[in-house]
Amino acid sequence: MQRYKDPEARDKMNPFAEQEAWEEHQIGKSKLQFGSKDRKRSSDDYQYVFEDGIDFVKSSVIEGTQHEEDTDQEDADEKAMLKRELQDERKTLPIYKFRDELLKAVEEYQVIVIVGETGSGKTTQIPQYLHEAGYTAKGKVACTQPRRVAAMSVAARVSQEMGVKLGHEVGYSIRFEDCTSEKTLIKYMTDGMLLREFLGEPDLASYSVVMVDEAHERTLSTDILFGLVKDISRFRPDLKLLISSATLDAEKFSDYFDSAPIFKIPGRRYPVEVHYTKAPEADYIDAAIVTVLQIHVTQSPGDILVFLTGQEEIETIDEILKHRTRGLGTKIAELIICPIYANLPTELQAKIFEPTPEGARKVVLATNIAETSLTIDGIKYVVDPGFCKIKSYNPRTGMESLLINPISKASANQRAGRSGRTGPGKCFRLYTSYNYMHDLEDNTVPEIQRTNLANVVLTLKSLGIHDLVNFDFMDPPPSEALLKALEQLFALSALNSRGELTKTGRRMAEFPLDPMLSKMIVASEKYKCSDEVISIASMLSVGNSIFYRPKDKQVHADNARLNFHTGNVGDHIALLNVYNSWKETDYSTQWCYENYIQVRSMKRARDIRDQLEGLLERVEIEVSSNASDLDAIKKAITSGFFHHSARLQKNGSYRTVKNPQTVFIHPSSGLAQVLPRWVIYHELVLTTKEYMRQVTELKPDWLGEIAPHYYQLKDVDDSGTKKLPKGQGRAAL
Ligand code: CDP
Ligand code: MG
Repeated sequence: MQRYKDPEARDKMNPFAEQEAWEEHQIGKSKLQFGSKDRKRSSDDYQYVFEDGIDFVKSSVIEGTQHEEDTDQEDADEKAMLKRELQDERKTLPIYKFRDELLKAVEEYQVIVIVGETGSGKTTQIPQYLHEAGYTAKGKVACTQPRRVAAMSVAARVSQEMGVKLGHEVGYSIRFEDCTSEKTLIKYMTDGMLLREFLGEPDLASYSVVMVDEAHERTLSTDILFGLVKDISRFRPDLKLLISSATLDAEKFSDYFDSAPIFKIPGRRYPVEVHYTKAPEADYIDAAIVTVLQIHVTQSPGDILVFLTGQEEIETIDEILKHRTRGLGTKIAELIICPIYANLPTELQAKIFEPTPEGARKVVLATNIAETSLTIDGIKYVVDPGFCKIKSYNPRTGMESLLINPISKASANQRAGRSGRTGPGKCFRLYTSYNYMHDLEDNTVPEIQRTNLANVVLTLKSLGIHDLVNFDFMDPPPSEALLKALEQLFALSALNSRGELTKTGRRMAEFPLDPMLSKMIVASEKYKCSDEVISIASMLSVGNSIFYRPKDKQVHADNARLNFHTGNVGDHIALLNVYNSWKETDYSTQWCYENYIQVRSMKRARDIRDQLEGLLERVEIEVSSNASDLDAIKKAITSGFFHHSARLQKNGSYRTVKNPQTVFIHPSSGLAQVLPRWVIYHELVLTTKEYMRQVTELKPDWLGEIAPHYYQLKDVDDSGTKKLPKGQGRAAL
């Protein structure tokens, strides 16, 4: 890429100059500082607008390290060379200079809080230093991550640096995927997985060090881990605890851990120019696309990182960017688009770490994962629309929803910082400086204060922690939410009226699933259909990536999907039909293609199912099949999901039975046209409306039969429901 000093020359080179869409954005919509309406302006346009509110200090200049990864590892010589190269690279990380000091501190203190800029080497280096210093001789080193992708990718990187096979000395453990072995010394894992390990090993005896990484994220599991590790550190003086964070507000962590010393790793940070839009953007997706293209054609070489809220947004932008750049052919430099989100298959994730070829530019479309969990080298430009998906919970109604919300100032600053790691960077905020100053909260509210706690309460109860009110929370959850969780677990018969764990509860806790799903599985024993129910649970756990619907073949895809719904069996049974049909074809990939089903998701479902089958054995539930009795299967589902019942209204909408709220059947559901009078649903998603996803018809008397303590007769009285107006509903398919 050339740097265009002369705006005239830039215009000539600007392949968009004639494009209508481009004009529209230039003149009408995009009010970014750097993309001026008036093309005749001087190149001063490109000078940054440095607003205060963000405190970027220019640190001494250290040259960025060259990334020369060689992926071809077949040749042992090459592998050795790679290892040597990586060893040299390790020495260039900011943390390297503090290696000995850090190890001394670990020796001296039991608990240390470590603070260092993203990319300074905390996650990849500290566990290796501990290993080199002999800690792994006494037990494993655990390093927790809030995100699965981060745990996997960091483990892969560290195994490369150590020249060992992933899963041997260095491994990772995430839900439903254990890539570790007897040999494993350094174990990267999600915080949720370490939490589950307490169930089998309450004192974490097999570990010598626990590093709670990305502590600033304050996920629910991290917050609970804090309480648990603090507790065991009192009776295990040999256990070292490291709490590491990328943000500077470490005092809070230090205070919580009885004034633990704070170890600061001075970061290498280059100045970041922060640009704001002059007026709020109506459509941040659109604005993000325009900004990326503008950067691509007008700015000097360097990769772009765009922060988006989720997979759907990422896919949309990916598609539009591909379309627009394809239209331009060779008029512009190559733009390599790399998506990264939690469900992205592992082999595609590696792409973001590959060095960008000469003359091309990479644009990484990422979720929050790139905010602090993953360090991507070569990023010079950050595009920050200012939003993220955040879970919120209403303890009154017990409803949880994932909503797109503005980020916090702390997040905005982390995002901006991603551009200044290896050289001066620029951050384009798609909101105004006024928005930043006045509308963004300082910090994100910890997850524990905005989530359903049923799962955590069940885990804590099974760890023998009964007095939840006095549990040592860093920030306690609202007492209303705790009560609601206890209530829910009581309704699921996981707790008795004294709040003690029942046999059902103990069995439920064995499953790494939400209590409603685990209850459904445990209840399948009674209905003799555990075989079917674990298939359904696995398919539900995969998420919404079973079916795919290519734009040009939507009708075919929809027809293929409806085949599994014959008889209006409902979405749960349809998922079971998909699984069983796939199994009958001996897990054929071809069959998946023919039926518009994602083979990768199916394989994942099969893995999950295998594990659930193992867990059934552990809780001594026989695997029994009752395939012909669909009502039995539906009753087992209802045993877990009776909280999620809804009843049809005159106008075709539904009302949830308890805590009435208006909801709709999601258009992707096989029952979307059928509209049964009573349904249970797997989850609610809020898009344009509040939708129920994965819906199955319910007979109202089941509610009284299965959950008499939860539903009174009046709740399930069917007489009040009016007939459907004409034209609504449809005969069986
Ligand atoms: O944890 P922290 O943010 O302090 O840094 P890190 O994740 O240990 O990253 C240190 C270096 O390792 C960075 O330069 C990354 O680019 C590199 N890295 C990588 O190349 N691939 C990964 N999967 C993870 C880290
Ligand atoms: Mg890290």
